[in-house]
Amino acid sequence: MDNLSVLKDFPNHFTFGAATSSYQIEGNSYGRCGKSIWDEFAQKKLKGIDGLEACNHYEYFREDIKLIKDLGFKAYRFSFAWPRLFPENNSNFNEEGVDFYNRLLDEILNNDIEPFPTLYHWDLPIRFSRMGGWENQDTCKHFADYSYFVSQQFGDKFEKVATINEPWCVSWLSHYLGEHAPGKKDLKSAVLTMHNILLAHGLSLQALKSNRPHKIGIVLNNQYAEPFNQEPNNLNALKLFDEIHNRWFSDAIFKGSYPKLALEVLGNNLSKNFNEDLKIISHPLEWVGLNYYTRSIIKHKKSEDGIDYETLRGSLKKTDMDWEFYPTGLSYFIKRISNEYSNQIPIYITENGMANNDELNARNEVNDLDRVEYFHLHLQEILNCLKEGFNVKGYFAWSLLDNYEWAFGYSKRFGLVFVDFENFKRIPKKSYYEFSKFLNRN
Ligand code: BGC
Repeated sequence: MDNLSVLKDFPNHFTFGAATSSYQIEGNSYGRCGKSIWDEFAQKKLKGIDGLEACNHYEYFREDIKLIKDLGFKAYRFSFAWPRLFPENNSNFNEEGVDFYNRLLDEILNNDIEPFPTLYHWDLPIRFSRMGGWENQDTCKHFADYSYFVSQQFGDKFEKVATINEPWCVSWLSHYLGEHAPGKKDLKSAVLTMHNILLAHGLSLQALKSNRPHKIGIVLNNQYAEPFNQEPNNLNALKLFDEIHNRWFSDAIFKGSYPKLALEVLGNNLSKNFNEDLKIISHPLEWVGLNYYTRSIIKHKKSEDGIDYETLRGSLKKTDMDWEFYPTGLSYFIKRISNEYSNQIPIYITENGMANNDELNARNEVNDLDRVEYFHLHLQEILNCLKEGFNVKGYFAWSLLDNYEWAFGYSKRFGLVFVDFENFKRIPKKSYYEFSKFLNRN
């Protein structure tokens, strides 16, 4: 499939947009932004490849908003950088940071685009790492104060807001698998963080609501998984994987409890009063964000700590991240959230997209046909869900720009727009023009 004609079948009120995050695009060497745990991680583990420059969105934001506008997207998901607003401590804010987000929000609104900010997309101010980062519940309270500040300063400029991006990545990926900052490989740290990041969400929601009637959501990354085969030990492994990756977070948010098997395996690492916190965590939301990329194959593998599985890749067509194309997993989660958790809740697909080995051709174009196909297949799944009556409200392509892909630095390109990191030149790719062709057709 080399076009996005599927777009013409979407209803007019369906929201299309692009997503980014602060550390991945802004460039934290600009505007007196403070350092985050990612700067530290980049020094220690990534040979210094960091987000100091990134896409220099700090200076190029007007051009970037124009790219969104010209494409025909009506929404933009971005994140506030906590260390840009509070670089040095938790009480003195950075006026340059406040100015930047005011200018950004005004530019978004002046172009008739709806801002969809996220409060936390992984750039925890570095000062928190000295006190245990997300393992320490004080960080949750500081996050609530920062949320209140954002609402007070900018809350008249947006309606919908997400608290946390991908609590599984903040906790398990970063504290058990060690692949993201702060790079820990410790079960107890991971479990404390799995709980605390949800508590941070709950306290942030309270703080936001105490200032304005925002429409509040959280962004979950659901990982679709299948068993290696139907043997009982692989089916059990799959169940544990699903509960740690997915249900831990969605059960807590929608039901106020943790799933049984995961609780058996992880529970003795939790603090005593976790059930009290779950009341705060499960306050009703106005919407939920789903990030979806691929599937995993789960195989039983005995381990000392009780995490008895390994994660394998299948053999379907793959992206440059080595992630399989598996679009049906997206509709699976739309249906699961709706049927098992909350029938009515509006669902936004807050991220979906692929890394591709994009290169400029002799005519200075990027012909990213695999990405067009990837978008097509996933949009088709959403369309089918809409036809079946599921309450999906919007779709955000990840990402507007090629950017800092975390542990992979600048080597993986997810953008609709190619970025030349030498001179910050932006060059829209074929996938960008495919969206724009259909979204601008009226
Ligand atoms: C994250 C993005 C990231 C993308 C691709 C998501 O997990 O929210 O920040 O770039 O996946 O890896």
